[in-house]
Amino acid sequence: MARITYPPSLGQSLKGRVVVITGGAQGIGASIVEHLHSLGAHVIFGDIADVPGTELASSLSTAHFVHTDVTSYADQLALFESAFTHHGSIDAAVQPSTTPPGSPVLPLTRSPVSRWHLSRPPPPFPESSTEEKFVPSVTFTSVYSTTKHGLVGLMRSLPHTKGLARFNVVCPSATDTGMLPDFVKAAWTGAGFRMQSPEAVAESVVHCISDAGLDRRALVVAGGKAWESEGELEKLSGAWLGEENGKEVDGSAAFYFASVSD
Ligand SMILES: NC(=O)c1ccc[n+]([C@@H]2O[C@H](COP(=O)([O-])OP(=O)(O)OC[C@H]3O[C@@H](n4cnc5c(N)ncnc54)[C@H](O)[C@@H]3O)[C@@H](O)[C@H]2O)c1
Repeated sequence: MARITYPPSLGQSLKGRVVVITGGAQGIGASIVEHLHSLGAHVIFGDIADVPGTELASSLSTAHFVHTDVTSYADQLALFESAFTHHGSIDAAVQPSTTPPGSPVLPLTRSPVSRWHLSRPPPPFPESSTEEKFVPSVTFTSVYSTTKHGLVGLMRSLPHTKGLARFNVVCPSATDTGMLPDFVKAAWTGAGFRMQSPEAVAESVVHCISDAGLDRRALVVAGGKAWESEGELEKLSGAWLGEENGKEVDGSAAFYFASVSD
């Protein structure tokens, strides 16, 4: 993968821009809200956590909080309409959540406790055992990973929107937020892996918003550093799919998307 660094001067372009964020009350989303606010952007963010959301908004002069459950289409629409009504345009949207409207499964993946309830039968809950261990259930990790693959797949499936809107995904490694229980963080760092700050992830999100050259890219953020993986993967198409097959697959996909773009 290619190391990618964020030139802070790019952030200047976000002054006065309007950005909508879901899941912005805490964790990575809150860091994105704060980072964008520090650059002078107008931030309209939603979350189901009303208390931290309201507190965060009241501490920032140009941020506005709207109660939003991302599993509700009506809530999401109201959030975006609020931004549009107040500012007349929306320049960027950041969705730390991968939950599509109406899905009963994906909101569960956002809860650190839910992993245990998604398995039937659930594995022993670690906090009740004498020795706490990081034992992710296969069901949880499968569902969780599928939601993340879904976002990358969505980004790759939007070539017909090129020139109209940019789409990028940010893929963080372990990040120090409330999503990870303390015993997981301890196990992670104990095994020698790095735990990064939510600010490091927020920086990559801001990079994606402010860099017009970043489109259909995936930024993998690990240990506080960002790496671009999508462009490197495209270069390997021949080795990955086979030269002849790769041309067939890429060519037919381009033909298909061009055909359906109208
Ligand atoms: N923390 C990590 O190590 C890590 C690693 C990789 C990816 N991620 C992803 O990053 C994203 C943000 O994670 P985080 O670590 O900041 O988590 P977090 O738990 O700290 O924050 C998530 C926020 O989303 C809100 N939320 C939950 N359900 C919601 C709903 N239905 N509608 C609206 N808001 C809702 C929560 O109230 C909270 O404010 C998630 O998609 C997570 O899967 C996190």
